[in-house]
Amino acid sequence: MTKTPPVEDWATDYDIFDAGYVKDPVPVWDKLREQCPIAHTERWGGSWLPTSYEDMQAFVRMVPALSSRDPLVVSESKEEMEFDPILDEYGNKAPPITSDPPEHIPMRRLILPLFTPKAVEPYRPFAEKLCHGLIDGFIAKGTCDAALDYAVHIPAKTIAHVIGVDSERSDEFVGWVRGLLEEGMQDPAKRIKYRGIIRQFFGELVDARKANPRDDLVSRLLAQEIDGQPIARKAVVGMCNLLLVAGIDTTWSSISSALWHFSTHPEDRRRLANEPELFPSAIEEMLRFYSPVTMAREVTEETRAGDVTFMPGDKVLLNFPGANHDPAVFEDADKVILDRAKNRHIAFGIGSHRCAGSNLARMEMDVALRVWFERIPEFELTDPGAVTWAGGQVRGPRHLPFRFPV
Ligand code: HEM
Repeated sequence: MTKTPPVEDWATDYDIFDAGYVKDPVPVWDKLREQCPIAHTERWGGSWLPTSYEDMQAFVRMVPALSSRDPLVVSESKEEMEFDPILDEYGNKAPPITSDPPEHIPMRRLILPLFTPKAVEPYRPFAEKLCHGLIDGFIAKGTCDAALDYAVHIPAKTIAHVIGVDSERSDEFVGWVRGLLEEGMQDPAKRIKYRGIIRQFFGELVDARKANPRDDLVSRLLAQEIDGQPIARKAVVGMCNLLLVAGIDTTWSSISSALWHFSTHPEDRRRLANEPELFPSAIEEMLRFYSPVTMAREVTEETRAGDVTFMPGDKVLLNFPGANHDPAVFEDADKVILDRAKNRHIAFGIGSHRCAGSNLARMEMDVALRVWFERIPEFELTDPGAVTWAGGQVRGPRHLPFRFPV
């Protein structure tokens, strides 16, 4: 990650890429929630950072004053967005996540039926076989990188399988998505490069399916209509791009965060290993405590929020992770409670853009953790100093050196 000057005042000059913040943002949110509770920074193009659950509930509803047209936490400048032949041909938007009403609703309606609990359940055997195969690859050694040898492959191969693209190419897909969401978050040129690669890949795939439809997700999307009109090619390319990008880093981060937690909290690890009936509530608690995703909204009209005024062009970060630590809503908010009874977390967002893939993500987390605990109930970090975290838009561990008894 690029080094930036140290932060002296988090309320007026926060840095979402500060290494300490990326590793453990909870103390910063707790302090800001008491102090502001909406912080501001001029760094990374400038933005506002709310920290309370109540503000997040309100801000998602302020549409279109807080618009989804550019939901990245760090925007490209006008110069960076200049003419690019690939983006010009295949489009630059990723509906429905980049749309406001009225065009948001029909686009979202096309995606939702593909990811209902019933629609994702048939992918469970694929995920189970995949998880066992990954563990078979390293279990005899007694060591692995749980982020790179295990967690990353589960969402990458599963979403490739769901979209109907070659899951053997998942390492390439991960490289593109990391280029976009990790390295590219601080480097717009890199982000535009990887966005172009993804667009071109799906552009060619969409054209191939248009010419020869198959029984797969792309062909099904192409067969849909909006207001009696065939759906635009650019929109299908944008949706496939979104599914790949939204489907990989997010769930990888959640699985890795959970494994990191259990490797560093042996009492919780033993409890889950001995009480498997806790998996559902433990997964929700992991999602709450280590929520990976922060989204942004662009201000389109002057908007008053408590003591501050958002001006047109400002960015407001939807800090779902911070809201999930708000003590006004969660008892012992900064404690992991595996059997937490009341857990209305908003890790998947809230309101009209709430995650369309949450059922798939939950199924993948469930399989990933159950198979891991069944095969490797005892494990620990070999070197806590070697753990690395990605942050910004999607937060989670990217290296997890583990050892376990053979
Ligand atoms: C643990 C994993 C995941 C987390 C924490 C997560 C989180 C989120 C969040 C916070 C949003 C709201 C965006 C906003 O308000 O602007 C969102 C939207 C979305 N997510 Fe996920 N996501 C996860 C996994 C997935 C997966 C696996 C898919 C793939 C199918 C997916 C597809 C989407 C889509 C399509 C949207 C846009 C919905 C809309 O704009 O109407 N997500 N996600």
